Amino acid sequence: MDDRLVERNDSRDASASLDVAALRLGISGLRLGHPLIFFPAIGSTNTYLMGLARAGAAEGAVVTTDDQTAGRGRMGRVWKALPGQQLILSLLLRPSFPPHFLMMASALAVAEAIEREAPLTAALKWPNDVLVNGRKVCGILLEASEGAVVIGVGLNVNGSLADDAELASRATTLADECGAAISREALAITLLARLDARYHTLQAEGLAGRQAIHAAWRARLVTLGQRVIIHQRASQPTAEAEESAPPTTLTGLATGVDADGALILLTDDGQRQTITWGDVE
Ligand code: BTN
Repeated sequence: MDDRLVERNDSRDASASLDVAALRLGISGLRLGHPLIFFPAIGSTNTYLMGLARAGAAEGAVVTTDDQTAGRGRMGRVWKALPGQQLILSLLLRPSFPPHFLMMASALAVAEAIEREAPLTAALKWPNDVLVNGRKVCGILLEASEGAVVIGVGLNVNGSLADDAELASRATTLADECGAAISREALAITLLARLDARYHTLQAEGLAGRQAIHAAWRARLVTLGQRVIIHQRASQPTAEAEESAPPTTLTGLATGVDADGALILLTDDGQRQTITWGDVE
C-alpha cells in the first residue's frame, strides 16, 4: 500500500489528536512555521493569530488546532468544524507585495500538498477554493491589517460530510474521495514547505516571481471558460475592499483573470466586468 495512506480505523484515523512534535520536526528546516502554536480547541485560529499580529508578532507564526469552534469563512460565513479530522491552520506573513498574490500562492500550495500526500488531483475554483472531483475540500480566508496578512486554511481531510446532505452536495473530504485516511501532519508539512518556497519567490523575485505564481495559479483554475453566477453579499466583515459593496448577482462567461487575479466576466448583457471578490456558482 502507498505509505502516504492510512487505512480507516488505523490508530491515526479521524479522531486522533494532531502529532505536534512530528509536525514541528517536519518543518524545522523551513523559514516559516515558527513558532508553531497548537490548541486542542480554539474559536478561530485566524482571529487568534490576527491578535498576535496586532501585538507585533513576527512573520512565520502558525496557529493550528484539532477543533475550531467558531471558524470563519469568506463573506461572513461559518466554517464547519470536523473535530480531529481537518487541517486547520493560520499563518502570519508581512509581505512586501500586494496580498492577493498570497491568495494565489496559498491555494497553489494546498493543491500541491493534496496531490503529494493523497492519490488525488486538485483543482482551483476562483478565487481560492480547492476542489477534488468537483467538490470543495479546502477554503482559504486571507485577512490583512496594517501590513500583516493572516492566511487561514481549512482543509477537510478525514471523516465524511455524508451526514450533511446540503453541504455534501458541494463539499467533501480527502478521505471520502480516496477511500483512506490521510495524514494531517504530512499535509501540513508539505503545505508549509510549498508556501515557504512560493513566498520566498514572491519576496525575492519581484515581478518575475509574481508572474510565475500567477501563471501556475491560472493553469489550475477550472473556472475559466465556464458560465458562472457571481454572488456578492453585503455582509463583509473582514476584507476592506468588500466592506462597502452592495449585494449583487452577476451572470456570464468567465473569460480570464487579469494580472492581479481578478476574474474577467463577459456578462449576459454583453459587458466586460472585472470581478475582484465574490462567490462563484
Ligand atoms: C471559505 O471558503 O469561506 C474560507 C474558509 C476558511 C476557514 C479557515 S479554517 C482556519 C482559519 N480560521 C478561520 O476562522 N477561518 C480560516
